[in-house]
Amino acid sequence: MCGIVGYIGPRNCVPIILEGLKRLEYRGYDSAGIAIVNNGRITIEKRAGKVIDLVNKIGSNNGKFAATLGMGHTRWATHGEPNDVNAHPHFDLDKEISIIHNGIIENYQAIKTKLLREGHTFVSATDTEVLAHLIGEMYKKTGSLSAAVRYALAEIEGTYGLVVLSTHEPDKIVAARKGSPLILGIGDGENFVASDASAIIEHTRQVVYLEDGEVAEITTSGFRTMTIDDVATQKVIQEVTFELSQIERGGYDHFMLKEIHEQPETIRNAMRGRLMVEEGDVKLGGLSHVMDKLVNARRIIITACGTSWHAGLVGEYMLEQIAKIPTEVEYASEFRYRNPIVGEGDVLFLISQSGETADTLAALREAKGKGATVLGIVNVVGSSIARESDGGVYVHAGPEIGVASTKAFTSQLTVLALITLMLARAKGMSKADGQVLARELDTLPSKVARILEDTTSVRALAREFKNTKNFLYLGRGSNFPVALEGALKLKEISYIHAEGYPAAEMKHGPIALIDENMPVVVVVPRDGIYDKVVSNIQEVRARRGRIVAVANEDDNDIDSMAEFVIRVPRTYGFFGPILNIIPLQLLSYYIAVERGTNVDQPRNLAKSVTVE
Ligand code: F6R
Repeated sequence: MCGIVGYIGPRNCVPIILEGLKRLEYRGYDSAGIAIVNNGRITIEKRAGKVIDLVNKIGSNNGKFAATLGMGHTRWATHGEPNDVNAHPHFDLDKEISIIHNGIIENYQAIKTKLLREGHTFVSATDTEVLAHLIGEMYKKTGSLSAAVRYALAEIEGTYGLVVLSTHEPDKIVAARKGSPLILGIGDGENFVASDASAIIEHTRQVVYLEDGEVAEITTSGFRTMTIDDVATQKVIQEVTFELSQIERGGYDHFMLKEIHEQPETIRNAMRGRLMVEEGDVKLGGLSHVMDKLVNARRIIITACGTSWHAGLVGEYMLEQIAKIPTEVEYASEFRYRNPIVGEGDVLFLISQSGETADTLAALREAKGKGATVLGIVNVVGSSIARESDGGVYVHAGPEIGVASTKAFTSQLTVLALITLMLARAKGMSKADGQVLARELDTLPSKVARILEDTTSVRALAREFKNTKNFLYLGRGSNFPVALEGALKLKEISYIHAEGYPAAEMKHGPIALIDENMPVVVVVPRDGIYDKVVSNIQEVRARRGRIVAVANEDDNDIDSMAEFVIRVPRTYGFFGPILNIIPLQLLSYYIAVERGTNVDQPRNLAKSVTVE
């Protein structure tokens, strides 16, 4: 969600922080701000809008805005509309302490009422300013910045990734986390704090992941960490492995387009060293210690949100049909609050690109607390879900910067296919059958590359439908989630209303929407239910709806039924979604480009949803 970056060291922090904020902008971005400590005072510049608006504002400050200690923030509004005043950083009452904050302080109203009674006044509508004032009060009592932060955090309910600066102690940064990611970047005679490694990777690859409930004191020469109760904690310095080029656009107009085109490579990466084609089997190191639990699982439950939930729906088909394990899929946000009956014998897969989604993390904790085995299918290495799981599999898609998830989705599907094949073999599938599936999986990267080679027909479609108000997406079986995902992609970046439906459900309601203006995108591969989907297509045609079919290359019958056909190679049924989603990603991308929307940073959305 919001982005955080802080610096302490010998250099001018302002360009370092602004550059870091630009790299974090993809996470959430309705306003941005920076605070520096210099000559015994804190100076704050902040602005609604993009980081570039902040850069321009500071640029007009005649180069006087410089310091060796500072912090910056990109905000995704929760409390209070996105304007200059509500943007972070915020001051305490005496303007001696300043904070930036990701997350939500749930009991801020009660604390605010108490502070108002004590004579405080507030300028913003944010929960963060209330926390700043509370820390200010605690400083008066303790005379120590880190103690003030700890005492204040002991009084609040909610989540935070927090960075605090003060004129009282201008030689340090205090940071704390609960439910919102925060890492320390360890440099040479300088140190950093950030919500995401991409903000600081230019300067250091050595990072320390803070755990929930930890507070850190960071100075130029080092850091120390402790719990809120002031018990020292031990940390391990880890190395970030991704390259700077992976978080840059590399000649593409948008990150989303780059990430769509990376998919042959990212799908290959998800399988590398894991898929054993000749053995017809799969090896997943992160699951080897829980194989018994997996093979004997009473059932598998997959929980996730958004696109990752769609991947889970495809996983359900794979795991039940191929590995023969009863599988359920549930939104993490629903799972966590319905007091689910889970326990030993249940295995939960948590799917998450970011590994930080608040609802998914809460579902993990709920199930783990009840004795279930919890396993992550995660992209971001070292993220909370990865660290709190009993085991799991990284999808290795590399940093995904475009807010609309693309390559992470196909990598999640690939990993689900690998897990399925591994479990099927462990439960008795023959080597020969395993080889058939493994060989097919091995062909997927080149098949995706083939789809991406020529995008002219998708671009023509985008021009045709750029002014359309509504879209319907239909699919059956494991392609129903593809319809959901195709519709979600279109909604997110083009702001066109789109709905995904199981094709046969259309006649139970949505068919009322169909007229000669309604494009209906139908995913119709030549599989066992092809004829059924064709019947659904005929129902649309009978009402003069406009059919866009995603069909196999060798399907010669489809042209007579569809106004537009997008071709994809054939594959084994349950792997189809990995190919079929590609043209739908491209369609939403090109429609958004035609409409001139902000593809990589669509309105109201954030890349990593760390609030409920
Ligand atoms: C859609 C999208 C979101 C995420 C959802 C879960 O393009 O990106 O729907 O899939 O917020 O995020 P993760 O996978 O990070 O848990």
